Amino acid sequence: MAETLSNFIGGEWVQAASGATFTTRNPANIDEEIGVYAKGDAADARQAVEAAARAQPAWAAIPAPKRGEILYRAANILESRVESVARDMTREEGKTLPEARGEVGRAVNILRYFAGEGARLAGMAVPSERDRVFIHTLRKPLGVVGLITPWNFPIAIPAWKTAPALIAGNAVVLKPSDLAPLCAVRMVQALDEAGVTKGALNLVTGPGSKVGQDIVTNPKVRAISFTGSETTGSGIAAEAAKRRARVQLEMGGKNPTIVLADADVNDAVATVVNAAFFSTGQRCTATSRVIVEEGIADEFTKALVARTASLKVGNGLEAGIEVGPSIDEKQLGTVLEYVGIGQKEGARLQCGGDRLSDGPYGRGYFSSPAVLTDVEPTMRVAQEEIFGPVLTVLPARDIGHAVEISNGIRFGLSAAICTRSLSSAFEFINQVDAGLIMVNLPSAGVEYHVPFGGSKDSSFGVREQGPAALEFYTETRTVYLKY
Ligand code: UN1
Repeated sequence: MAETLSNFIGGEWVQAASGATFTTRNPANIDEEIGVYAKGDAADARQAVEAAARAQPAWAAIPAPKRGEILYRAANILESRVESVARDMTREEGKTLPEARGEVGRAVNILRYFAGEGARLAGMAVPSERDRVFIHTLRKPLGVVGLITPWNFPIAIPAWKTAPALIAGNAVVLKPSDLAPLCAVRMVQALDEAGVTKGALNLVTGPGSKVGQDIVTNPKVRAISFTGSETTGSGIAAEAAKRRARVQLEMGGKNPTIVLADADVNDAVATVVNAAFFSTGQRCTATSRVIVEEGIADEFTKALVARTASLKVGNGLEAGIEVGPSIDEKQLGTVLEYVGIGQKEGARLQCGGDRLSDGPYGRGYFSSPAVLTDVEPTMRVAQEEIFGPVLTVLPARDIGHAVEISNGIRFGLSAAICTRSLSSAFEFINQVDAGLIMVNLPSAGVEYHVPFGGSKDSSFGVREQGPAALEFYTETRTVYLKY
């Protein structure tokens, strides 16, 4: 039985003003309905912004360390529910249960980290050039902020936007993706139970074209943090620029992993398979290009294809499953289409790339993880984000050539290298154009307390997470005081 869920506006769980609803389904079994949600539209979004604007001064008036205590309590509540929230995530988003548990744990860590930041919202005290003048700075909240989050990290991303926004004293209107809103609801429930001021945190579910659009265009919303597609992100930036609202965008990736000839083959295969195929390749930090130095290319590729072909695809609730379904029919269609495009461009399909339809597979959006070799850097499969279990293999003459291929794209979110050479690792760190740089680690899988974001077309605005996040959600005031 699907659960009925509501919007959260002004501290009340309410249905959409229109009464409309929408239903999500398990991407591993489309016969299973997961949630029936309020199908909000512009009217609900506007109400949420109004409620946030009314509540924000009272929330901001609570001393920041006390706001921190509330966030800390929410972390404990969520932690006591890791197992059930993880199951919700697997059923609605499709990632495997161990991955889902890890993600809920990450959300708990994020809430705790920013809870602590409540006691550290420090400014600076600086000497003045004038006699008996004291200068210091304060951090002030912006007011109401709009947070628009994707389906692929259905609790970590809502948490890493909501927690810094709240701890800084802002009021939040959160709009999760309508493909998988359940875990965002769970987070809001925990924060509400923990005692966040009524109205300081609001959640509106519904289509981006209505709810998202209204949040983005509402003059009371002073900042928008968005993770999702580049097209939507660019539209948000243009809209926000009209009224000079702050924006922070996290968008696409086409992340490389370089494998140098001196790498340990088994380690490199494990690293690349994790980065490319776990979470079904549906991470903007996923590796979708592996750039292999000639000396190791044959041995590495053979081992990579063998391991990829052995991956267990299926319903992420079952033990031993390594790769779940695509999120929906459209995303699966994109995956299969790109496998075809790659082959037409002259790449060779070494394994996978088929829709799986036997038995229970037939009720979900499953495909077998695909490896394409003989890929040229200019091919579409080597340039465009696919967001699924498709990995391209590109040969490189040496590290210089490998870095050149790595950088030869519009995106720059994450980049990884597998090598045992310290100087090659540093060469890579200095030359690669990416916001996240991984040495002997998967390109995906970031930690909660350090800055996150990319270069070039991947990101826009200041970094998320860690201390950087507070830059986005606060405004600095400079005080000059003569005594
Ligand atoms: C991760 O790799 O751990 O949407 C996080 C995404 C990114 C988050 C990746 N914003 O995939």
